[in-house]
Amino acid sequence: MPKGTWEEVFLKFHLNHVRFSQIAATNLLTMLNLKRFPRVIALLLIPANIVWMQACYYDNEQDLYGVPAPCDTLNLSYTAEIKGILTNNCQGCHNNTSASGNLNLESDSARVTNIAEIIDRISRPASDPLVMPTSGPMSSCNIQKIKAWRNQGLSITN
Ligand code: HEC
Repeated sequence: MPKGTWEEVFLKFHLNHVRFSQIAATNLLTMLNLKRFPRVIALLLIPANIVWMQACYYDNEQDLYGVPAPCDTLNLSYTAEIKGILTNNCQGCHNNTSASGNLNLESDSARVTNIAEIIDRISRPASDPLVMPTSGPMSSCNIQKIKAWRNQGLSITN
């Protein structure tokens, strides 16, 4: 392979960044090195490789290794995390116009005031008819985050 060309730079980038498309990278290298292989065809394959690279980029750790992604409960943000969890999972049934169980969770203050009941209900097992949401427990990470928010002082300003 010629030294210092853009092809070399591209291949270096390709090899360093794409752990999961090693086959593609190897094929590309081989094609660029083959004396008789029309270089133009190898170059035409680059866009296909880029698409593949991006597909790999979006694979998540859990799918690739079967290990759950760690749940980050440090430095929780109410506005960026807690609010969204409660809005998406609870507010459909606990809002200003329809407050199931007479519980309206649409305001920040209601979420703070009712935290003990919220944690009680979200911590119940799927088999418990009182578990919230009614469809079954949220992900364990969501539950851990709500508990951590309580333990970190129930701030609604960060
Ligand atoms: C599909 C509708 C639905 C969703 C979604 C839902 N709830 Fe409920 N919730 C209810 C109904 C109906 C009741 C009343 C029956 C009962 O107490 O189980 C209730 C009751 C409750 C109560 C007891 C209120 C009281 O004082 O008696 C709490 C606390 C609660 N929900 C919290 C939550 C939380 C937190 C979420 C989200 C993680 C949630 N709910 C999601 C329907 C829902």
